[in-house]
Amino acid sequence: MTNVLVIGAGGRAHAIAAALKRSGATIYAVMKHRNPGIARLAEDVVIGNHDDPEFVTGLKWVRDGIIDFAFISPEAPLINGMVDALEAHGVPSVGPKKNAAIVEGSKEFTRELMHRHGIPGGVEYHTFTDPERLEEFLMDYDKQFVVKPIGVTGGKGVWVMGDHFSTKEEGIEYAKRVLENRIGGEAKVLIEEKLVGEEFTLQVFTDGREVRPMPLVQDFKRAYEGDKGPNTGGMGSYSAADHLLPFVSEDERAEALDILQKIIDALHSEGREYRGVLYGQFMLTPAGSKVVELNCRFGDPEAMNVLSILDSNLVHVADGIINRELPEVRFKNLATVVKYVVPEGYGTAPVKNAEITVNEEAIRNEGALLYYASVNEENGKIYTTTSRSLAVVGLGARIEDAERIAERALGHIQGRVFSRHDIAKREVIEEKVKRMKRLKTSP
Ligand code: AMP
Ligand code: GLY
Repeated sequence: MTNVLVIGAGGRAHAIAAALKRSGATIYAVMKHRNPGIARLAEDVVIGNHDDPEFVTGLKWVRDGIIDFAFISPEAPLINGMVDALEAHGVPSVGPKKNAAIVEGSKEFTRELMHRHGIPGGVEYHTFTDPERLEEFLMDYDKQFVVKPIGVTGGKGVWVMGDHFSTKEEGIEYAKRVLENRIGGEAKVLIEEKLVGEEFTLQVFTDGREVRPMPLVQDFKRAYEGDKGPNTGGMGSYSAADHLLPFVSEDERAEALDILQKIIDALHSEGREYRGVLYGQFMLTPAGSKVVELNCRFGDPEAMNVLSILDSNLVHVADGIINRELPEVRFKNLATVVKYVVPEGYGTAPVKNAEITVNEEAIRNEGALLYYASVNEENGKIYTTTSRSLAVVGLGARIEDAERIAERALGHIQGRVFSRHDIAKREVIEEKVKRMKRLKTSP
């Protein structure tokens, strides 16, 4: 029997726990709130601050030496040095140590690493600490730009010209605010040229040397239908049966994979061994695939797309990552569509403690999967928090089949909640394909 410590409480952590359980693991879960999906799969559960290495290494299971390895779902514990701390207590982990998790912890580090090693897929970027120099520079800058805090802001601190602000002056004002208020943890701001194209996610398993790609996924970040409203952690996502996307070719995928391999090699050459899951957010542009950002863990919702069709044993894959003998990793040739259910007001003022009723049996009968996320379970009832509540996953031969199943599953969930029904709809995807074609012919 393999005892696995699963760290995290969201939909991504539920998907990880489910795949591990399917692979024969016994789950010990530490999570900030009681995710009923994880709790049901676990042998034992502790509710507590799963971001804090001291708290986690102090858990009885760790002190008693019963854990074979840990699987860490969110970025915060990884950036905080959870893997280093667990290793010091004799527990190996799937996830990078602090010195490699920095690819997500510092956007400046990642841009510089790519630049230093001549890795393709970089963008023009500049960092500033002095508001006057920042203003001078931007007043003369003649391209569209993006303002980014250096550290992690849950996807909410990045402002894109034409999206979150329209004039240069507004951009300067926000960039100054990032400096002044140390948004993202540092009195520093990153200015990048704005990329135009279609975004996609490529995640890989890696043992620090080799990489094994997962199916490509496209995430929908905006809160409301038609890609309107505030940026969120992601409202839903889809993947295709051939593991590409309708607007990404095999060559374009290979190019993105090569970029991630080069990043792993560059980290290795600098004494930063990256073991775990590396997440690449790419923008496919007429000039090829560019790196928008890197994350040091699975994406959420993207983890639910790929883990739902993982054909390999995740315990074996984890062993391979830990022992630096990465096996081949297989995924089923099925399309997947994930749709999150979120509290009313999510993105601005979400309603807390609203009851959600979930007919699990009816969802199962539709052939859909269900992953719980940030909900509280009390006396058998489910209540919202301020984050994403739960997600359904449809699987099918074609994206439209998977989408239909996900939509039917949503019909069995009630409460003060909403979802984006446009995610992965045929017309929406066709529009993306057309837009990409247009961009490639007349950039
Ligand atoms: P990040 O947190 O870096 O992923 O940024 C959040 C979102 O901002 C991304 O998913 C993109 O949609 C957008 N974004 C970030 N950087 C750029 C860029 N250089 N050009 C255009 N959009 C960007
Ligand atoms: N879905 C975007 C992320 O996990 O960062």
